Amino acid sequence: MSASARIPRWVKFAMAFLLALSWVPLAMVAKARYAVSEKPPLHLFFDMDDQPKYKPQAPNSLFADGRAMRPPVAGTVARGELQVTPGVVDGRIGEEWIAMLPDGIVLDEQLLKRGQERFDIYCTPCHGLSGYGDGMVSKRAEQLEEPQWVPPSSLHTELVRGREDGHLFNTITNGIRNMPGYGRQISVSDRWAIVAYVRALQRSQAATIEDVPAEIRPSLR
Ligand code: HEC
Repeated sequence: MSASARIPRWVKFAMAFLLALSWVPLAMVAKARYAVSEKPPLHLFFDMDDQPKYKPQAPNSLFADGRAMRPPVAGTVARGELQVTPGVVDGRIGEEWIAMLPDGIVLDEQLLKRGQERFDIYCTPCHGLSGYGDGMVSKRAEQLEEPQWVPPSSLHTELVRGREDGHLFNTITNGIRNMPGYGRQISVSDRWAIVAYVRALQRSQAATIEDVPAEIRPSLR
């Protein structure tokens, strides 16, 4: 008598049936992978997949114009589409640094005052109030004999005095060598104000008696 003959017939049928049944989930998954359905998929864990939302062009009574899509705020300019005077945002036209403040930045007392205020905030810790590179941070670093400390440049050297306004603007924006850039903290107009003030500061340290009004000269001599 063989082993299979001892298993009752109905058990064999039941086993064959269960074996066939065990393929059903797999077949369903396989079908679900390829079949197209109008109905939403079976979703056991919702997480945050389904949330109330407005689709493009849908109406929304919340707004006076009844549109869910909001128009851009008046005056919005897309990235890269800003039309400005050449040199204003990067200090150069093509490869050339602009020599003087760009058009639209008016050199007046207000600009210099603003530049002085911003310079005192952002630049003096390193460059010092007079711009000789002797700010408090630098003094402290030298006191501690910090081996990594690179002394801030004096703003009164021939080299820095000879730099174009655009170059100076770029130094403030992107930094130079070991100096970090301040473009993210200081707005474009404030950077130009600082440039103007640095020029005034440089002039003040290289002034001649001819720069002093004639009526005051005798009191200085
Ligand atoms: C954290 C300290 C620090 C601050 C703040 C700082 N600088 Fe400097 N600056 C330096 C250092 C250091 C150098 C010299 C870098 C080198 O030689 O590697 C330098 C160099 C310069 C130079 C010389 C660039 C050249 O043409 O060679 C100018 C101009 C200058 N800084 C302007 C400014 C202005 C304007 C500000 C304020 C917006 C400012 N710096 C803020 C540290 C600083």
